[in-house]
Amino acid sequence: MPAPTITFAEKRVLTGSVAVLTPVTEADVDALYPLLQDLEVSVLTGSVSSANPTAEELRPYSLAELRAIYARWAVAEDRIVWAIRDVRDHGILGEAVLNDLSAANRSCGFRIWTAGGRGRGIGTEATRMAVDYAFDRGIHRVELEVYDFNPRARHVYQKVGFRHEGTKRDALRFDDGWVDAHLMSILSTDPRG
Ligand SMILES: CC(C)(COP(=O)(O)OP(=O)(O)OC[C@H]1O[C@@H](n2cnc3c(N)ncnc32)[C@H](O)[C@@H]1OP(=O)(O)O)[C@@H](O)C(=O)NCCC(=O)NCCS
Repeated sequence: MPAPTITFAEKRVLTGSVAVLTPVTEADVDALYPLLQDLEVSVLTGSVSSANPTAEELRPYSLAELRAIYARWAVAEDRIVWAIRDVRDHGILGEAVLNDLSAANRSCGFRIWTAGGRGRGIGTEATRMAVDYAFDRGIHRVELEVYDFNPRARHVYQKVGFRHEGTKRDALRFDDGWVDAHLMSILSTDPRG
């Protein structure tokens, strides 16, 4: 009998010891909007092309556009977007995303950012919980890209069990220079950190 098709239609709250991941809703956009303009997040996720971005680069979407985007994501079957919250007060710190679902290949992508509470284990735990969620749905491979100028994120991914697969040379144009992007993945059969 063929395996059932994988979807991310079922949105679950994931609770850890320092972070809670709640499936995003349109109502979360008011809290996410200012965080999305965090310069460090914008630089490290490759959303801006310089350390001194223009206001347009930092705010590519209006609040209304973001509400429409998140309303779609809240019911999407091919991605799940979680708000990352501090377990202590449930304040929103960032987001974790499983996207680019390929049901045929049982694979998906992962991305994460937090604009507050960094260095407290929240990013590591959020990554572990999202990867666990993917594997529990039947996903075999989770992949991501991380820029060379982001050793903290690379460390977190390695700690969770992601392995380096290769490097896209000069993948990002930044401040009149070039930055490599590293491709990393974790398989459901890999040892977990
Ligand atoms: C990457 C990110 C999600 C990690 O979340 P976090 O909550 O800060 O991470 P944690 O506290 O769980 O872990 C940080 C780890 O990185 C280590 N670290 C910190 N700075 C580092 C550096 N410059 N080089 C290597 N490791 C570093 C810490 O020591 C810690 O590891 P340890 O627990 O083994 O000591 C978060 O910092 C973030 O969103 N940054 C900005 C956006 C971003 O980079 N997103 C990822 C794009 S690919």
